[in-house]
Amino acid sequence: TPLALLAAVLSYLLGSLPAAAWVARARGVDIRKVGSGNSGATNVLRSLGKGPALAVAIFDILKGVLAVWIARSLGLSEPWAALCGVLAVIGHNFSPFLAFRGGKGVATSFGVIAVLDPPVGLVAFVLALACMWLTRFVSAGSIMGAFTAIALVLLLGRAGWLMAAILFLSGLLIWQHRENVRKLQSGTERRLGEKTSAPA
Ligand code: G3P
Repeated sequence: TPLALLAAVLSYLLGSLPAAAWVARARGVDIRKVGSGNSGATNVLRSLGKGPALAVAIFDILKGVLAVWIARSLGLSEPWAALCGVLAVIGHNFSPFLAFRGGKGVATSFGVIAVLDPPVGLVAFVLALACMWLTRFVSAGSIMGAFTAIALVLLLGRAGWLMAAILFLSGLLIWQHRENVRKLQSGTERRLGEKTSAPA
């Protein structure tokens, strides 16, 4: 239906709003040229500090939450709402405002999964946070959260559409962290609080 297509397009555009790049630009910083170069809350934390990072994280989570909520409030089916959530994450990662580049989709995927499947979102969030806390690597925590979500949907046997959405988001998140994985392996990934790469 036209309404469903409208929701899908709106979700992609909502997701594509590059909060990290805009917050950084407002402070005279090009987010793509500092730290990891990623347009996300972690890199804003690294480059601009806690306040801006928290604002970006909340905004990016809300993009995912809102994409699903808008679809639901338009009376669209749950699978379509899930698709809208996925499109918000795709918009975030491949944003027309950033020449189809963007972030890694951690915060936005969390927002989507938290509203689609609150128990899975909560457990993945807690394990991701624990991993970040223990390792001081945000990337390792994010990847841990994605693997947790994958394990949970498979174990819990969710509906096909929900499983597909969460597996896709988790797989995409892990793929987006391929550079981080290389840096973790070579010992050059930045820990929380480190502005520059640790010496190899
Ligand atoms: O925010 C995404 C996080 O998992 C990694 O970000 O900037 O360290 O590559 P970054």
